[in-house]
Amino acid sequence: MKTITVSASKTYEVLVGSGLLDQTGELTARVVKPCKAAIITDSTVDALYTERTRRSLEQAGFETLLFVFPAGESSKNLTVFGQALNFLAEHRLSRSDLIVALGGGVVGDLAGFVAAVYLRGIRFIQIPTTLLAAVDSSVGGKTAVDLDTGKNLAGAFWQPELVICDPDTLATLPERTFREGCAEVLKYGLLIGEEFLRSLEETPVSDQLEAVICTCIAYKRDIVAGDEFDRGQRQLLNLGHTIGHAVETKADYRLFHGECVAIGMAAVIRAAVQMGHCSAALRDRVLALIRKYGLPTETEFTADELYAVCCSDKKIASGTIRLVVPAAPGGCRLLPMPVSDLREWLEKGLAV
Ligand code: NAD
Ligand code: GLY
Repeated sequence: MKTITVSASKTYEVLVGSGLLDQTGELTARVVKPCKAAIITDSTVDALYTERTRRSLEQAGFETLLFVFPAGESSKNLTVFGQALNFLAEHRLSRSDLIVALGGGVVGDLAGFVAAVYLRGIRFIQIPTTLLAAVDSSVGGKTAVDLDTGKNLAGAFWQPELVICDPDTLATLPERTFREGCAEVLKYGLLIGEEFLRSLEETPVSDQLEAVICTCIAYKRDIVAGDEFDRGQRQLLNLGHTIGHAVETKADYRLFHGECVAIGMAAVIRAAVQMGHCSAALRDRVLALIRKYGLPTETEFTADELYAVCCSDKKIASGTIRLVVPAAPGGCRLLPMPVSDLREWLEKGLAV
């Protein structure tokens, strides 16, 4: 088992290791005295992993409750959020009790936000079961639900007590879901530097899963320690996301988040070359790597269409944005610009 300690407004451990799911109870009891533990999960993960999680928690003395919602991004909304809060209240969960977020990024974001708000904040742990959640969303304390007006528009920073990541649980992921997680890993490849990027070129993520998760989380630990509340360097984690989110919205969620991030990374690196920030050699290398992982590098949408989405995006519509621009492996930087400059980046980025 590998342990990575995150120091933010709360200090907590991320435990990564094969078979850890069945040790959930004893690992949790190290940081939270046995109490009521409300497992929040989605319908797919429930069928696969609730029973083992529940058994382990009960063996360690926790009394378990279970709230299950339909799998998918469309459940990450205020209605399900309200249902979960009412469930906890009906079962009289108190401030000394615990929420267990068992699932991918949708479960983690929703359950984390429930934990942040219920009784003005109770403790929660994250058990990520997708690659995306393992390398990114389960760590760092960003929680949220989507509003009708946009993605992740209501949320809170609320750190977990513990993250338990058992890479064996990723074995049941549909191939497309695993691949979209690889997009976030490739993002880390560009952010972290040459050695990690090369290892992703030479060895598939699936053949070095535990090491990849640990490398990504160790990088995110450092970023979160320096900028928990996303005012500066944490925004580097948005590499590929500004354009990616516009594609995601325009595709009306037919494309997965990671697929859109891959398209966003491809677009931003193409434009970065034309704007003189990055070499054509790195662009070609990154595009080849994205394709090697079976991810898209092009979109059917035009620069005008995506620019219109960016202008209506509540999070970026006003004033200045900071675009993450790749210059070298390990050398990405935040480039502040008026939103109107995005049009040129989009035009250059989409020109194949
Ligand atoms: P997800 O949670 O919807 O999981 C994808 C699908 O895989 C779902 O149908 C789920 O039921 C299924 N699944 C989960 N684990 C499984 C397993 N082990 N075996 C089989 N099926 C399994 O989506 P995701 O890709 O994990 O996360 C996307 C969400 O994460 C988005 O809402 C995004 O906004 C959010 N996100 C948050 C952060 C953050 O820092 N908080 C970072 C990145 C993304
Ligand atoms: N995934 C972006 C962040 O945690 O900041």
